[in-house]
Amino acid sequence: MLSQKTIEVVKSTVPVLKEHGVEITTTFYNNMFAKHPEIKNMFDMGKQTSGQQPKALAMMVLTAAQNIDNLESLLPAVKKVGAVHVAA
Ligand code: HEM
Repeated sequence: MLSQKTIEVVKSTVPVLKEHGVEITTTFYNNMFAKHPEIKNMFDMGKQTSGQQPKALAMMVLTAAQNIDNLESLLPAVKKVGAVHVAA
């Protein structure tokens, strides 16, 4: 169970995730591929160029932060993303 303090800290990140989420995840992927080019072949790099993948990750992180006090509501999305990762 998450503490009230943790829930508050995570919730406090929601405004910044809304404003800069895609910028953050784009930077994250750019850094990851620069440091570990060997994992590029796991990814569809077209989705990086189009921005689809950074957007998907940003939306997932935002949704998780917004619903951190209602984890059950995240289950369907987590199951779907889990299935994508098993298949990748
Ligand atoms: C907390 C950690 C992670 C989260 C929240 C996350 C989230 C996501 C999301 C939202 C997608 C898009 C799913 C869709 O479009 O249906 C995705 C796809 C993917 N993720 Fe992750 N991910 C995480 C960790 C990782 C790690 C550690 C790897 C492996 C290095 C990885 C590899 C992939 C790959 C290969 C895809 C498919 C993307 C493509 O088609 O190019 N993920 N992830």
